[in-house]
Amino acid sequence: MNRISRPVRFWTFSVIGGAALLVYLFATAPAALDSGAVERKTISTAEALTMLAHENDVTRTLFTKGIVGKAKPQGLAFDEDWADEDVIAGPLPALFLRGVADEISASDVPLRLFLGSDFPIEQSNQFEGRQAEEFKAMRRDTLPRHFMDEVTGEHVSMFPDMASAGPCVSCHNEHARTRKSDWALGDIMGATTWAYPSDSVTTDEFLAMMNAYREGVAVVWSQYLGELDQLDADQRPEVGATWPSEGRFIPDHAALRDSIDRLANGGLFGSLLEKATL
Ligand code: HEC
Repeated sequence: MNRISRPVRFWTFSVIGGAALLVYLFATAPAALDSGAVERKTISTAEALTMLAHENDVTRTLFTKGIVGKAKPQGLAFDEDWADEDVIAGPLPALFLRGVADEISASDVPLRLFLGSDFPIEQSNQFEGRQAEEFKAMRRDTLPRHFMDEVTGEHVSMFPDMASAGPCVSCHNEHARTRKSDWALGDIMGATTWAYPSDSVTTDEFLAMMNAYREGVAVVWSQYLGELDQLDADQRPEVGATWPSEGRFIPDHAALRDSIDRLANGGLFGSLLEKATL
């Protein structure tokens, strides 16, 4: 019971501060302009990355629980090799995230995203150096880490990636290449690691970061829908407003976006972001 509620508790405490700050920044920006002040309002990169990490956490959990967990029983496949031409399948959650990270890297926004672990299925996801040290400390206190990478000069934030849904645990425990087969719900399985070149960002820069993330999700989603298009007509789910919990359905991007917004933002924070982002 205690373990399952940990991800929810974590994000509630991490994001409330950031959301309050954004409300302050948006609410005070017009006054600053009116008075002709040249001062640019800024938030720390650590705060900006905390809000991005929350959006990512919600997107990732929704995809794992609402799509992978529900569409698999409907006969839809999710595969490590989903990007291969001869494989018709959706991405695994980690590969969904990698797709988004690749799109962010290809954008103009100098933001980087990586998902690593100390017991990875995929060797290249093993944390090394400073990130490995910080992750060890995170395992002890479950808190996010914010530090400067002395090698790249980037400002790095690491957030626990928790087993928030049953499929996280069962798939990793049973995977042929797993190096740990006793993951349990609520465990820290890895960390999403974000890097940005400066220590603070303006509100415009923050919104550009959020847009780059959301555009990445939109691109990966359209790639997934492209995979479904290749299925024979009698296998193909209906794409629209309905979710696979109801049967052979997959939400279109608008329906996905709606659910992410409802879960991630809610209230004032959501309506502020909605005005300014995708
Ligand atoms: C259907 C199988 C499957 C599900 C469900 C799944 N994963 Fe994974 N996960 C994988 C595979 C396979 C990789 C390695 C992919 C790669 O990088 O090539 C991976 C990678 C990862 C990594 C990076 C380290 C590593 O193991 O390589 C983390 C952390 C992770 N997953 C956590 C999670 C969490 C948390 C969830 C649930 C929200 C989840 N996974 C759901 C199969 C799965």
